[in-house]
Formats: sequence, structure tokens, C-alpha cells
Amino acid sequence: MSSPTPRTRHRLARRARIGRSVIATVAAGAVAGLIATAPGAAATPTTLEAPDIPIANVKAHLTEFQSIANANGGNRAHGRPGYKASIDYIKGKLDAAGFTTTVQQFTYNGATGYNLIADWPGGDANQVVFAGAHLDSVSSGPGINDNGSGSAGILETALAVSRANLKPAKHLRFGWWGAEELGLVGSKHYVNNLPSAERSKISGYLNFDMIGSPNPGYFVYDDDPEIEKVFKDWFAGKNVPTEIETEGDGRSDHASFKNVGIRVGGLFTGASRTMSSAQAQKWGGTAGQAFDPCYHRSCDTSSNISDTAMDRNSDAIAHAIWTLGSAGTTPEPDSVFENTADVSIPDNGAAVTSPVEVTGRTGNAPATLKVAVDIKHTWRGDLVVDLLAPDGTAYRLKNSSGSDSADNVITSYTTDASSEVANGTWKLRVQDVAAQDTGHLDSWKLSF
Ligand code: TRP
Ligand code: ZN
Ligand code: CA
Repeated sequence: MSSPTPRTRHRLARRARIGRSVIATVAAGAVAGLIATAPGAAATPTTLEAPDIPIANVKAHLTEFQSIANANGGNRAHGRPGYKASIDYIKGKLDAAGFTTTVQQFTYNGATGYNLIADWPGGDANQVVFAGAHLDSVSSGPGINDNGSGSAGILETALAVSRANLKPAKHLRFGWWGAEELGLVGSKHYVNNLPSAERSKISGYLNFDMIGSPNPGYFVYDDDPEIEKVFKDWFAGKNVPTEIETEGDGRSDHASFKNVGIRVGGLFTGASRTMSSAQAQKWGGTAGQAFDPCYHRSCDTSSNISDTAMDRNSDAIAHAIWTLGSAGTTPEPDSVFENTADVSIPDNGAAVTSPVEVTGRTGNAPATLKVAVDIKHTWRGDLVVDLLAPDGTAYRLKNSSGSDSADNVITSYTTDASSEVANGTWKLRVQDVAAQDTGHLDSWKLSF
């Protein structure tokens, strides 16, 4: 502000001996090299990306649905044993993967029908992202594209959620509906029996009915714009053109949800409608042929599937679940562990440390551990800063740099500490590796 301070004069004097400072820095760097430091310690947070859904797993589910039909009179229709066997197969997989499953019974045409609901524990119960598919076939065939395909696509996505041990902000729910082919009976039953307070917690319902048609189109439901965009963006990223679904709005279970004001979306690869030549050109299919020539016929078997369509749509489902499950919510506030005690840092001397005790955590530290430091110093290039995990592993936050003559290190670093147990004594270690300028650690904190 007014007359030159001692510090300013000091700094000017220091500029004349930069050569010496560099030598000191190199020497200190050699010492620091003995310490295990994590690569990319100051990396930025990573956005969680959906995994690639293994098409082999999806096809194994389709093979199972085919076997179930073969063993039960050739179909998996409402009121027939092949339907219940399909429910049991899916429920077994989900129970083993840690889902909370519920079988909801209803009666239609004098036969018992079943819906299967699977909840992934956790997430905001007031914001439910819901994916569903009808599991029944018509009685004339095994119903592998209609709708083993949607059933298998959401099943494998649910299993991927479990494999990833996903902790989404929103609550995830999956549903398999009975008796869709008889008039959306199962999904209507579910929605009618859902109290309005529960309906209003559903952020969105995503429907998958026929997503592996053998002569596939890539149709996205033109309904809720946010859901539609998530799907369209995924296909655009793969350079796969999409069209709006027009082969019958209200012809599948999303209508049951939409009718009570729930936002819906979904994917579809086409049923009995014929592929145009323009569509055949953009999708590489056969013009003048139905998207699914075996729609509602006995030939809707496990050979009635385009692997490419099944693969793309399964990945798109996972993308939507990952994206919508994490979007639009405020994450839980961070816990903060801080040490505000001053620690003086000896000039060109030994490293000093300052501890913070982390308690009350289970498991490991996050991949985005935030370390905020406040160091007052007259030449911050002198300073090497590391975070020490409870087991002593060092994470380099800042290297020395003889030319960085600015004051102070008041900043926040993000460190991948996911291989460290969270609870225990963490330390900030600071070393001044060049003579003359000095300072002290004012405070530092961990938050996660
Ligand atoms: N199972 C549906 C039905 O028979 C298949 C179907 C036709 C469909 N058009 C649709 C599914 C449009 C979703 C969107 O009606
Ligand atoms: Zn169907
Ligand atoms: Ca110094």
C-alpha cells in the first residue's frame, strides 16, 4: 500500500539468485521422488459413465426365455406356466444381486397374473427413476423380441447397477409387467394400486417393449423432453440416426403411467409396420419388409433378434439409468475435517505435518477427495505439499517451482484417494525446499 515492505525488498533480492533456488529445488525433487506419490493427484472429478452392457449376458437371458417357452407349451403368456417361470428366473437373478423384489398378483380372465418390482436400495425415495418392460408373450409364440428383448435389457441393466455398486442420487426401480398383451393389464394394476403420494415420487418411467427387432429401426418415444434427449444424445454419440416412435402411442405400458401424469419415455425398434427405403438406407435394413415380420407369431424366437439393435438399446438403457439416476439432485453435503492450528514451516528445512482425524466413515475415501489448504508464505515456489493417508501413502498435491514467486498457497485440490480407508489420521505435509522466504501453514481441511 505505502512504502516498500521488508517482504517486497526481500523478493527483489531473491530474483538475483534464482540460479541457486533452482538447484535447491532439483535436490529436493530428488528426495521427494523416493516417496510414493499417486499419479495425477490433482485430477478433477470424474463423471460416472454407464458401463457397456455385455450383449452375451443379454442373449443368455433371451435363451433362457426361449427354453422356458419350449418347456411350457411354446409360450410365456398370461395365465400359462411359462409366464410364472419367466418371473421366477428374473426374480432369482435380482435377489442374488441385492435388489428388494416384490411380486404383485392380480387376476385377469380368471387367471392369476404377476408383476415383478425390483428396488435398488438407496437413493432419494422422493425421486424414483423407473424402467419397465412387459414380460408376457402372446399365446401364439415365445415372445422373444416381444418382449423378451425389453425384459432382458432392463434385467441386465439392473444387474450392471449391482455390479457397479451404484449409489445414485435418485432411487432406482425396475418393473416387469404381466398381461400387457391383453390390454396393459399388469401395469394398469400397478399404477391403480399406487397411492397418489407414491405416484408423485416417480421422476420418470422408461418403457422398453420390442428393442431387438430383426429389421430394426431406432425409435425414441417423443414424450418427456428430458428423457427423450438422454436417449437421443446417446444414439447421436454413436452416429446412429433415430426417429420419433409413431407406431402406436399408448400401445404399451408407458401409457398406464402417462395416463396418471407421470413423465415417460422409451425405445422401440418396430413391430409390424414396414421399413421404408429411406429408413433402410439410414439403418442398413431391408426396405419393404416389416421391422419385425414375426410380430405376435410363433417365429418370434431367439433367432428373431438383431444383435446390433439389442446391443445398442441395452447400452442406451444403461446410459439413461446412469444419467437420469444422478441428475437434478443436490448431492449430500460434505463432511469437513479441519485443522486450524498454525504450524510454522522451517526455511529450507525439514517437512512439517498437521493431522486431521477422520471418524464415522465406512469404507474407503472417495475418488474425489477434496483437500483445501491455506498456507501463508512469501515465495510459494519453495513449497512441496503432500497429503498423507492414514497408512502413510503420500499423495502429491504440489511440487516446488523456483520461478513461482507468488505469495501463499490458498487453494483446493481434488485427489483420488479411493484406495485408502477413510477413517484414521490424515496429515498434510509441507516442506520448504529453498532458502530465504518463509511462512506457515494456517489451516487445512478434508471434505467428502
Ligand atoms: N406390445 C406392443 C403391442 O402389441 C408392441 C408395440 C406396437 C409397441 N407398437 C408399439 C410398443 C409402440 C411400443 C410402442 O401393441
Ligand atoms: Zn410388446
Ligand atoms: Ca524458503
